[in-house]
Amino acid sequence: MVIFHPIVGILLLLLLHTTHGYITDIKLVTCDNKHACPSYPGYRQLPTDLNQGVNDATSIFLHIKQDLSQDPITDLMILPQNETVPLIAKWTKLDVDLNQLSKEKDHTALWLYYTKDTSVSKNPVTSIIIKQGTSPMVGAEYKRVPVDLNEGVGGFHLFMYYSQSGSKDPITEITAKQCFTSNCYIDGWERVEKDLNKGIIIGMSVYLFYKRDSTQDPVTDVVAILNDQTPPQGYTQVPVNLNSILRGDQIYLWYKTSPKNPDTLRDGIQELAIQFGKHVVTPFGWSKINVDLNSDKDGKDGFGEPTYLFIKKGYKELPKMGPLTFDNNGDFKILQLADLHFTNEEGICRDIPPDMDCKGDNTTIKYIEKLLEKEKPNLVVFSGDNINGELVSDARAATFKFAEPVIKQKIPWAVVFGNHDDQNDLSREELLQVMNTMPYSLTKRGPLDIPGVGNYFVKIFSDTNTAEKTHAFTLYFLDSHSYTADDDDEDEYDYIKSEQLDWVIKSARSFDRKPNAAAFFHIPIWEYHDQDALYPDARLGEAREDISSPKKNKISALEAFKSAGDIRVTSCGHDHVNDFCMERDGIQLCYGGGGGVGGYGAEHLGWPRRSRIFKISEFGETITSWKRLHNDKLSMIHYQTIFSL
Ligand SMILES: *[C@@H]1O[C@H](CO)[C@@H](O)[C@H](O)[C@H]1NC(C)=O
Ligand SMILES: *[C@@H]1O[C@H](CO)[C@@H](O)[C@H](O)[C@H]1NC(C)=O
Repeated sequence: MVIFHPIVGILLLLLLHTTHGYITDIKLVTCDNKHACPSYPGYRQLPTDLNQGVNDATSIFLHIKQDLSQDPITDLMILPQNETVPLIAKWTKLDVDLNQLSKEKDHTALWLYYTKDTSVSKNPVTSIIIKQGTSPMVGAEYKRVPVDLNEGVGGFHLFMYYSQSGSKDPITEITAKQCFTSNCYIDGWERVEKDLNKGIIIGMSVYLFYKRDSTQDPVTDVVAILNDQTPPQGYTQVPVNLNSILRGDQIYLWYKTSPKNPDTLRDGIQELAIQFGKHVVTPFGWSKINVDLNSDKDGKDGFGEPTYLFIKKGYKELPKMGPLTFDNNGDFKILQLADLHFTNEEGICRDIPPDMDCKGDNTTIKYIEKLLEKEKPNLVVFSGDNINGELVSDARAATFKFAEPVIKQKIPWAVVFGNHDDQNDLSREELLQVMNTMPYSLTKRGPLDIPGVGNYFVKIFSDTNTAEKTHAFTLYFLDSHSYTADDDDEDEYDYIKSEQLDWVIKSARSFDRKPNAAAFFHIPIWEYHDQDALYPDARLGEAREDISSPKKNKISALEAFKSAGDIRVTSCGHDHVNDFCMERDGIQLCYGGGGGVGGYGAEHLGWPRRSRIFKISEFGETITSWKRLHNDKLSMIHYQTIFSL
């Protein structure tokens, strides 16, 4: 029995507020032969049938739940029926055979186990995903469960991956392997995702692997040694040339282990990750080995994909961040950056005047830096298509890059996903895990039992300098999804679902004092259309392209926002050359206006890229807005009052 001491309770609550979500329960759910599956309140069903492609199989889905009053799951494993479970008392077995067939047939049963025992693992499981293929691309935050979920029964190759938060046990051994394909693993070793020879036409794939063995000494340093350079004393060579065969140069990794003691256990290397791209950002808590592992001459110019190894020595807690608060004058300023279309490479310039000095992503970065300098916002909202849908070989690296100018200024930031963000190697869920490791991010997955990734709200408090802060404004963030699943017409956009809208209404009702609010999402809702031209005078700004919202359907987001009652303004992105705000039924529907030179625009037609600013004043009672153009002066246009009493 747990005695709930009030002080412990408060401490616990504080802790929970500063941690990102973790998973507290999982279920394997079997469906009937008409594929009707029971649903469980509070759980999210992962979309992949774990028996996908298997003849005579029952559909099985993994359901996951987050209940922050429960302890986190800290580790997972899958074992065939004939393998013995080590430390069985510490594991819970899910009583559904992952290989369950609808007809009795001889097969090996596969069992999924989880543990909450912190002596097995102290790291809460924050995400579980299922991927198809023998060696799918997966975010560096994830660990592979090394069992094909359809082992021995045919069907699709499916693997489960999960991520864990917190300080990890140090790595104790590193190796590498060359293979003809990306299906390159070593039993008992964790793979560092990403082929070190990517982009090389002739040659092998090369992967790094590591082990965490608590009986061994921790690895405390790694270096890359080129050609005839001399390795440092006392280091161990990883006995595989990372430049594969048929390449002129040799690149070897060497690593040092140090005798196990509290210091080396704390400061040892906890993680390895690869980033692709020539000018990749060094993320918080990591350091970069400054040698292109795909280079041909002395670690400089490379063939193929520029490839850098990052190491995480020890574990650095994210900087502490207080709640968002109005300043002493009662002001709070938000900069919305829409459709930046960053890449992890140099990026491109689209639709620019012929005489413009444009350097791809660097130009967008300069623009953001100038905006931050000029407006000094209290919060930056990235309203989707933060990264491009093509020319991105590493969405994780592109994520570090788009947020870097804001992180450098220590400004809190919040993200919603667009339709392009997850078109590269990583899904929304994987991108979210990346953001959870980045400083000043307010982005959250949101409730697991409503559709989407990134449905959350952030409160802004009036700063009274007393312990009791008043909730004075609310920012809602909603996942507007991408394309409709049942249509391969790319222009058919998905819509915000009724569960999400109900959640907004329910949230608004839960606030003691219902302050004014704003809502951000990527794709405009249907009501941004003004097809009957009812609101031309209520519109400030331009509509240079069609409103590319989802089709009109039964669910009206505007009606839901009206019934929530607190939302005074919404702002989206998506249509880069629309930048208006239009009032409908007391709510201003705004566009950010495209901000990145890598996305389409109309700058070549004399219509510069732009970004929207919202200023909330009088501790939440008044909202004004304007835009700043991508030009030398960052010209301010379309100043307007969005809401006042
Ligand atoms: C379990 O069975 C599989 C095949 O059915 C076999 O490959 C494996 O070696 C067995 N493991 C043990 C521990 O017996
Ligand atoms: C972009 O900026 C980086 C870092 O400042 C620089 O090294 C690189 O050359 C720039 N790229 C272009 C295309 O200007």
